[in-house]
Amino acid sequence: MLDEDQAQRPRGTVAFPISLAWCVIVVVEADTAWTGGRDRGPGVPGALRALERAFDLVFRAVANPWRHLGALGFFFFWVATASGIYLYLFFDTSVTGAYESVERLTHGQWYAGGVVRSLHRYASGAMVATVALHFVKELVGRRFAGFRWFSWVSGVPLVWLLLASGITGYWLVWDRLAQFVAMATAEWFDALPLFGEPIARNFAFPAAVSDRFFTLIMFLHVALPLALLAGMFVHIQRVNYADVLPARALGWGAFLALLALALAKPALSQGAADLATEPQTLALDWLVLGFYPLIYRFSPEALWIVAAAATLGLLILPFAARGERVPVARVDLANCNGCARCFADCPYAAIVMQPRAGGKAGQKHAAVVAGLCAGCGICTGACPSSTPFRSSERLVTGVDMPQQPIDAVRAELERKLARLHGEGRVVVFGCEQAAALHGCAGRGAATLSLTCVGQLPPAFVEYALRHGADGVLVASCLEGECVYRIGDTWTAQRLAGEREPHLRVTVPRERLRVVRAGAGEEKTLAQALTRFREALARMPRNEPRGSSRSKAPRALAAAQTGARG
Ligand code: HEM
Ligand code: SF4
Ligand code: SF4
Repeated sequence: MLDEDQAQRPRGTVAFPISLAWCVIVVVEADTAWTGGRDRGPGVPGALRALERAFDLVFRAVANPWRHLGALGFFFFWVATASGIYLYLFFDTSVTGAYESVERLTHGQWYAGGVVRSLHRYASGAMVATVALHFVKELVGRRFAGFRWFSWVSGVPLVWLLLASGITGYWLVWDRLAQFVAMATAEWFDALPLFGEPIARNFAFPAAVSDRFFTLIMFLHVALPLALLAGMFVHIQRVNYADVLPARALGWGAFLALLALALAKPALSQGAADLATEPQTLALDWLVLGFYPLIYRFSPEALWIVAAAATLGLLILPFAARGERVPVARVDLANCNGCARCFADCPYAAIVMQPRAGGKAGQKHAAVVAGLCAGCGICTGACPSSTPFRSSERLVTGVDMPQQPIDAVRAELERKLARLHGEGRVVVFGCEQAAALHGCAGRGAATLSLTCVGQLPPAFVEYALRHGADGVLVASCLEGECVYRIGDTWTAQRLAGEREPHLRVTVPRERLRVVRAGAGEEKTLAQALTRFREALARMPRNEPRGSSRSKAPRALAAAQTGARG
């Protein structure tokens, strides 16, 4: 299908500079980009965040498609699979019968087969669009390096498998579009020095297409999606509690949108394939087949070079990224009782439970797989040993963060509590990734910023209330914005008593407030603090109730005496 002029065009002249530029971008971008997953500056991620938040207003975070692109990818896959099984029941896998069988299904039972065919086509397209957005979101959010390398690298082949699944699907219909797809794919593959005989010869004249070849395509159209599914499961191996199922509202919304499209614009064939003539005008599915015109605009070789360079560039991106490395959690065997709470709460499956050397049968302890650790501190928040009430001078917990050990957090809290005076003494626990705390500090509150709000052991709330705070405000990121995926969820559940370690029931809940304020929402946080103070002012002053910790620091003890006086 290449015309003479196109055949004359020097092959690869465009592809080489494009590929070179892409590789330079990859290395430069990666070199400056990796910040341990912390997304701070302005620019595209800021714009993306604004877009996501705007969608929250309409859909709420739980059903916001932008926040659940991975789950939507899975959802569309299942819709395509279920509809594909139905189509297969009526499909004739012979060259002569394929087109007719699809036509019968489309028009003979338009209310069932026709709708299911459209659902199959639109679910596949929607999956491509969703995965493209998911990819762009991870890329501009710079979430490809460090502990995320595995998710990134395992995501790249999925793009190929997804497109190949779609292409073989279009092929099966054996209409004019399928004819174009068959010919163009053959010409594209013939540019590779792999085949002795050009594959394009299989489509040179009608009798050249055999039933066997057609069965092969059918086999590929089943095998490729199966490989895609296997790849999808590998992709989420290092993501604990992966978001693979959209919320009911989002799932139904997506399905009804597909159904509405299927009824409004049913998927139709474009006339039976006729290898004796070339198709003149075709309606192309740009999502799945959008790159085909490039084969003719440039050359098959050029497209291979660009595709190979893009794939290679994406695969090396995580490793080309240099920069800040995150500190990794450390286990202290003496303080680990093997309860496995850290194992259950780690968002990246970085904790494994190992048999304790020299211990009783079945006794285990936690161990951190350094390469998987995000340095979020959620495990420290989960560990029952992370209670500040322990009497030891130095607080050592089962699993701790070297950049902000729990002992340092307790010491900082005690120091700041000692300086809290006057009305409405509030301790604000915040998160480095969410709204900054400087606005609250300016209003006389004691502020403590953690790597992730999930790093906060609930006992610290009680500790602050027992040692001079009138109230505790926990500032969490917005729902769905946790850089470490689930830190905000675990904290909310722990404070609500729904997850271990839970906040004790004896802690007065009216003195605790959880506020969701994302990065850049400092004003919202400051306003919430003001309202909390007003509420606290209507309550009796919270008298320090001493501590089960026998050796409370002198500064704190003095401050408590002063407060009582
Ligand atoms: C069939 C295609 C794909 C599907 C169904 C899919 C699905 C998912 C799901 C369900 C998650 C877990 C989300 C969560 O629970 O927070 C995820 C994470 C991720 N995906 Fe994909 N994905 C696909 C393709 C890709 C591609 C092409 C890339 C990029 C090359 C990619 C990069 C990532 C990364 C980096 C994460 C980790 C995010 C994090 O650590 O917070 N994915 N994906
Ligand atoms: S939560 Fe603490 S005590 Fe429990 S297994 Fe993990 S490190 Fe050990
Ligand atoms: S800091 Fe703890 S919870 Fe976070 S990834 Fe590392 S081991 Fe898992």
